[in-house]
Amino acid sequence: MPAHSVITIDGPAASGKSSVARILAQRLGYTYVNTGNMYRAMTWAVLETGVDPADADAVQKAAAGVALESPVSEGQTQVCVNGRLLTVEDLNSDPVNRGVSLVARVPEVRARLVADQRALAAIGPLVMEGRDIGSVVFPESPLKFYIDASEEVRAARRRAQGHADQVAERDRLDSTRKTSPLVIPEGAVVIDNSHLTLEGAVDAVMAHLK
Ligand code: CDP
Ligand code: CDP
Ligand code: CDP
Repeated sequence: MPAHSVITIDGPAASGKSSVARILAQRLGYTYVNTGNMYRAMTWAVLETGVDPADADAVQKAAAGVALESPVSEGQTQVCVNGRLLTVEDLNSDPVNRGVSLVARVPEVRARLVADQRALAAIGPLVMEGRDIGSVVFPESPLKFYIDASEEVRAARRRAQGHADQVAERDRLDSTRKTSPLVIPEGAVVIDNSHLTLEGAVDAVMAHLK
């Protein structure tokens, strides 16, 4: 078991998992960790080196030279690449959206980020959100959730955020990759929030914690 409790939240793209995780962490006073931003930061750094994200060998070599840190600020982890704090715009740019699932399928990249994610449990109780948190990163956590929503609702939510994002294509890559694909973790509570408000989705999670 981790040093502190870790509530794991997984789910497909634009299902609402980061919003739910952030509010839940605020309500509980836990630190919120968005692991997608760690894969996004690695992708941003790999793109900076001019490497094609589809070239797994080149990605692995470029990623090995990247220093990634996750300092905590205002109750959540940020991401720093080679000492530079990345912005929301950096992390959600079109090139990063297009490349991130390709970078995230490289086993060496995953092994390193999973180790970083486990080490974060030393800082205190966490709400950690991603694709493999309940299945691979903290499989022994007794508090696992899978936040889902229909494909139409997810595409509409992402459009409303104003980002060009091929949500269905990322889900296809994330669910079919060899190393830690997106799955419903064993023992996870599944919450479909297609027809729930954000607060309603957080309440649904809280109801299972009591
Ligand atoms: O990074 P470091 O080697 O110091 O730690 P780690 O072995 O990666 O584990 C960090 C935390 O994650 C520990 O509290 C482990 O108990 C926990 N962990 C876990 O819950 N499940 C695993 N399969 C591996 C580690
Ligand atoms: O917010 P959204 O659901 O669109 O994506 P994200 O959580 O920021 O994750 C971006 C990408 O990182 C995902 O599409 C996955 O390819 C990868 N990822 C992963 O492989 N494992 C995680 N634990 C988190 C994200
Ligand atoms: O992290 P993930 O990509 O799964 O989703 P998100 O960024 O938390 O949510 C995508 C958008 O849907 C955000 O603008 C949320 O405010 C919105 N949302 C919503 O309107 N109702 C919900 N029940 C959940 C999320």
